[in-house]
Amino acid sequence: MSAAEGHPSGMPPGPQAKAKLTVDRITSFDEEDLLALCEATDAAIIEGGGFGWLSPPGRQVIESYFKGLLLVPERELYVGRVDGVIVGSTQLVRPPRSNEAQAMAATLTQTFVAPYARRLGLARMMVIRAEERARAMGYQVLNLDVRETHSSAIALYETLGFTRWGTHPAYARVGGKMIAGAYFHKLLQRKS
Ligand SMILES: CC(C)(COP(=O)(O)OP(=O)(O)OC[C@H]1O[C@@H](n2cnc3c(N)ncnc32)[C@H](O)[C@@H]1OP(=O)(O)O)[C@@H](O)C(=O)NCCC(=O)NCCS
Repeated sequence: MSAAEGHPSGMPPGPQAKAKLTVDRITSFDEEDLLALCEATDAAIIEGGGFGWLSPPGRQVIESYFKGLLLVPERELYVGRVDGVIVGSTQLVRPPRSNEAQAMAATLTQTFVAPYARRLGLARMMVIRAEERARAMGYQVLNLDVRETHSSAIALYETLGFTRWGTHPAYARVGGKMIAGAYFHKLLQRKS
């Protein structure tokens, strides 16, 4: 069988056919990035796994959300890209200065990848990137929580060495039904 057989374009699948996955921190938006991030968010909400929204709130609301997010001093936004196009994001949240007792713990939240870009390894890359940043800033603990129905996310965090320490029985309400939440933490060892 020739290399081109079975490939729709007739071209042999080579290294050039492989999607390029990258993760970077966003501190300001250009229009293209903002549009792609809003589209990815919309798609994730419609599929049932995007932030706390249960139905798309409208493009204007999502745009304002992300623009406002960049103004919050404690939050850092990391985006995952396929061939340069944003398809998902995660947020690293530092504790407020007033919280001295938990000054050693950061939180990872709102991690998602659009349905059309899943299982490529992007969420893993984004979480690792945020975790490395938290470690570099001196945090010793990374916390996160997720709906118990988000089994793909739970599998992701387990493979990345997060420990599930608890279950919140009334974590979220979806379609009138109460849903439990899974709470995870990871101790961040300093890399020598
Ligand atoms: C959870 C989510 C972010 C994973 O994104 P992703 O880019 O597809 O994940 P990755 O490709 O990086 O997967 C990394 C690992 O996580 C696990 N995983 C991811 N999706 C999985 C699935 N559907 N079933 C089982 N394991 C899964 C696997 O161990 C996977 O490694 P592998 O592909 O080598 O087996 C994505 O499915 C999503 O956005 N889901 C809805 C929203 C959500 O649950 N967000 C989390 C809230 S905190």
